Amino acid sequence: MIPVNAAARANVHLIDHPLVQHKLTLMRKKEASTNSFRTLLNELSSLMAYEVCRDMTLQEVDIETPLETMKSKMIDGKKLVFVSILRAGNGILDGVLSVVPGARVGHIGLYRDPVSLQAVEYYFKMPKNMEERDIVVVDPMLATGNSAAAAVTRLKACNPKSIKFLCLLTCPEGINALYAAHPDVPVFTAAIDRELNDHGYILPGLGDAGDRIFGTQ
Ligand code: URA
Repeated sequence: MIPVNAAARANVHLIDHPLVQHKLTLMRKKEASTNSFRTLLNELSSLMAYEVCRDMTLQEVDIETPLETMKSKMIDGKKLVFVSILRAGNGILDGVLSVVPGARVGHIGLYRDPVSLQAVEYYFKMPKNMEERDIVVVDPMLATGNSAAAAVTRLKACNPKSIKFLCLLTCPEGINALYAAHPDVPVFTAAIDRELNDHGYILPGLGDAGDRIFGTQ
């Protein structure tokens, strides 16, 4: 078991709302069906989106109520991009988009080269004008941190206004690795589990998130 580096830990927003924790516990159970795992992930993702969006800037717009005109606040959802790390990241999209329906969506696909062990990109599709946008990268598990760090490196080349990382679960190894590569990227998570095992799985964790979302076990 390795400790979380103190500076890296300070960069992590642990979302400890009771509803989030309750749903995460139900998802961890090995007997949760594919259907209930996916439903819970949708619900949890929308709850976590509230926290990730807490510092979004608002603009005042003129509106008419049935009684008067007034200035009222709105966010510009179109400036936000959720970037899914394929394939498990797609499981988070429906939930976050239910809360920010105007957001754009990007996808990035990476695989680990068996010889070099480096992350290799096989898919990258983003909306236009990334330099005007705030990015939230989504992936249920921040495990080794390798694909997260590679995705963020690639996205930084698009010059976005900001990048955040949203996951369900992480572990000391993942937090430390992402922080070492990108100390400017805050992590939002519902739990920091004990450790990674030798196969790159988080313990106690919830198993293979992609398999559980898509029923491919
Ligand atoms: N990816 C998963 O799906 N599960 C883990 O525990 C780690 C990485």
